[in-house]
Amino acid sequence: MLVASVSCQETPPLYPASAPNEIREACAVTAQKCTACHERDRIVYARHNPTEWRTTVERMRKFPGSGIAPADVEVVLRCLTYSAESSVDSPASSRMGRFATWNP
Ligand code: HEC
Repeated sequence: MLVASVSCQETPPLYPASAPNEIREACAVTAQKCTACHERDRIVYARHNPTEWRTTVERMRKFPGSGIAPADVEVVLRCLTYSAESSVDSPASSRMGRFATWNP
C-alpha cells in the first residue's frame, strides 16, 4: 500500500517537480491557507477529482476563522486540480484507451 510505505517519510509537496511557476505560486498560497488546521498530508493524500476538490475547499472555507477568502478558492483549486491531473501517468494515451473501449 502506498500510504503505508510512505508513512514514515516526509510528506511530498503539493505539486509535481515538473509544475510551472504559476502552479508553484498557487500551491504556496494553498500551503499557507490550508495548513492552519491540519497538516499538508491531509491534502496530499486526498484523492479528489476537480468537482470534489471544489466542494471540499468550499467546506474548508466555511469553517469559522478559516482565513480563506472566496477569491482564494480559485487559486487553491488551480494548485489542487493540477496535482490531480498530473498524477495520471499519461492522460492523453489513457483517454485514447478509454475511447477505444467506448467507441469500438
Ligand atoms: C478552519 C480549519 C481548516 C482549514 C483552514 C482547512 N481545513 Fe481542511 N479540514 C478541517 C477539518 C476540521 C477537517 C476534518 C473534518 C471534515 O472533513 O470536515 C478537514 C479535512 C480536510 C480534508 C479531508 C476530507 C476531504 O474532504 O477529503 C481535506 C482533503 C482538507 N481538509 C483539505 C483542505 C484544504 C485544501 C484546505 C485549504 C483550502 C483546508 N483543508 C483548510 C479544517 C480545516
